[in-house]
Amino acid sequence: MNRHPIAVFDSGLGGLTVLRALRGQLPQEDFFYYADTRYLPYGDRPEAFIRERGVRIAEGLAARGAKALVIACNTATAAAAEAIRAAVSLPVVALEPGVKPAAALSRRGVVGVLATTRTLHSARFQRLVASHAGHLQVLAQACPGLADAIEVHGAHSPAVDELLDRFIPPLTQAGVDVVVLGCTHYPWVAEGIARRLPDTCQLLDTGEAVARQLARLLQAGSLLGGGQGRLVMATSGQPAWVDATVNRLWQHDFGQRLPVQYWEP
Ligand code: DGL
Repeated sequence: MNRHPIAVFDSGLGGLTVLRALRGQLPQEDFFYYADTRYLPYGDRPEAFIRERGVRIAEGLAARGAKALVIACNTATAAAAEAIRAAVSLPVVALEPGVKPAAALSRRGVVGVLATTRTLHSARFQRLVASHAGHLQVLAQACPGLADAIEVHGAHSPAVDELLDRFIPPLTQAGVDVVVLGCTHYPWVAEGIARRLPDTCQLLDTGEAVARQLARLLQAGSLLGGGQGRLVMATSGQPAWVDATVNRLWQHDFGQRLPVQYWEP
């Protein structure tokens, strides 16, 4: 048992889709969620920038007293997971696109992956595809602008619709039967993505699997339990703006306003 919170970070509010699964499976834990909103989107930034920023955030979170760290951002994992693991001595769970489960699920052998440009161009993603889906046709569809459009305009907005109309049809035309949501912002628009794909196509989100992995790590380190289900939210951006966005995205399944504080590691 350990009373410290579990730290979760993303470039913005995409990681809340992961946090939902984490809190669902680990209701007895406290969480500290950090949105690095000032630097959103990570997806179009140089790898070295994300690596340095990721290490700085991880060190800051460790210094605050976190008992484990979840990198709830596929882009940050692609650029910084190794450097973060080398820099902090906490258990680290790093999200990456669910290429392995997608390969197991696909009947037609044609899989789509929606992610940021930075994730798809990373050596880590190339390795992931080579080790688990080398025998399949993998359509890697970068979605520049989608994560920030979700935050700025909302999940159900003309700006998001316009981007989905551009990014999804090529997957349908290629005959995908499984599509991986390889960015934690995209579950916010899963409905809009599904609507543009054939009914038989499955969408894959890794939130639940990550929660199980975190539970296993906590158990193995005797760190499980000790919290009271509390959640603290912090951002490097403007708390009032983030607060409004959190509540707009989350209002239906959270039902409670959460104050957002400013924090810079
Ligand atoms: N949510 C992040 C991910 O999972 C990326 C969004 C961004 O470009 O900042 O990749």
